[in-house]
Amino acid sequence: MPLHALPTRERLTEVRYEIRGALARRARELETQGRTLVKLNIGNPGNFGFRAPEHLQQAIVQHIADTDPYTHQQGLPQAREAIAAHHAARGGFEVSADRIFVGNGVSELIDISLRALLNPGDEVLLPSPDYPLWSAATILNDGRPVYYQCLPENGFQPDPAEIESLISSRTRAIVLINPNNPTGASYPRETLEAIVAIARKHGVLLMADEIYDHILYDDATFQPLAPLAGDLPCISFGGLSKVHRACGWRVGWAVLSGDRSAMQAYTQAMDLLGALRLCANVPGQVAIEAALNGLDTITPLCSPEGRLFETRRALIEACEASAHLDLVAPAGALYGFPAVTGPAAHAFDDHAFALELLETEDVLIVPGSSFNVPYRNHFRVTLLPQPEVLRDVFARIDRVLEKRAALAA
Ligand SMILES: Cc1ncc(COP(=O)(O)O)c(C=O)c1O
Repeated sequence: MPLHALPTRERLTEVRYEIRGALARRARELETQGRTLVKLNIGNPGNFGFRAPEHLQQAIVQHIADTDPYTHQQGLPQAREAIAAHHAARGGFEVSADRIFVGNGVSELIDISLRALLNPGDEVLLPSPDYPLWSAATILNDGRPVYYQCLPENGFQPDPAEIESLISSRTRAIVLINPNNPTGASYPRETLEAIVAIARKHGVLLMADEIYDHILYDDATFQPLAPLAGDLPCISFGGLSKVHRACGWRVGWAVLSGDRSAMQAYTQAMDLLGALRLCANVPGQVAIEAALNGLDTITPLCSPEGRLFETRRALIEACEASAHLDLVAPAGALYGFPAVTGPAAHAFDDHAFALELLETEDVLIVPGSSFNVPYRNHFRVTLLPQPEVLRDVFARIDRVLEKRAALAA
């Protein structure tokens, strides 16, 4: 008798994560055929020769023998104290270690924090473009993503008036990704204050994904949301994956702030969900204190002659030199999100372009529509490769766009 195909959760059809999707699968096929690819699809520093700083590695080496047991579901007390002190230093705003949850990356905490919040049909205001896990986690926790636009013509900044116009009786949270993946935008204080005022007026939770908080270029600044939110319920997310280049260790944190009694039931819900998964990876947790109290290793990388700074410079110069590309220079984070413009953009489909680039030029990028945008002429690259690699990639991109422009003429 033939076996029945296993069913899957229906709402998975609404979810996508193309950063590791069909294009990445095709890339693997090409690699098994012997092709050498430049893969710019994931912000994974370790794949580009970056190492987690030595003092973080040493912390794990020294404490590995103590990391066998589960920890408390919220994480090691000393790690949470270090996160609390870091938040206080960063924003001049006291947070309490008993309201901090350490997780297996920010990814796990995004899922848990939405699961603790949402009932079927509840809405979450998400940026478009977004980091697509936010959409996926909203959907898989029975919520409905409602997108506010961060348009290229506005420097990818959110428009508080639009955010307010999208609030309904079902809105439960406003999500901000700042500095932003994929656009690199960092949000000014006035914009954040206006969004805080909207959250206060409508009684919705603020969720600030600040995983790129210290990855800033030129004179860009970062304004943490929690100090502006004050007594308003707010969750701030951070971690070791990007600023400390330790993605594989799976370490993130969620800091709850705002009125304790207003958040009591929610905190208990988070605690229960945290307890059900027991705890976060313990060897990774022991690196938190070393990371937050130790040497600043990210600023030199983001400053002139630093690797990320110079690759970003290569990106900006390549887009300026191209007849087919427009770029809003990233103020922070690890990505560029250029637009294809002019004749090359005629009847443009970002997926078809990404596939052509992969098949003909051995370069893997992520189409812009993977980040839940309504337009189809953007793509994302990571700033992690060496500057000369990025320059070469943009020469290849221009070759493909040149052909497209010639065909359109
Ligand atoms: C905006 C944003 N949030 C969260 C994550 C997930 O990070 P983690 O490695 O901590 O799970 C990423 C990873 O790229 C990201 O870009």
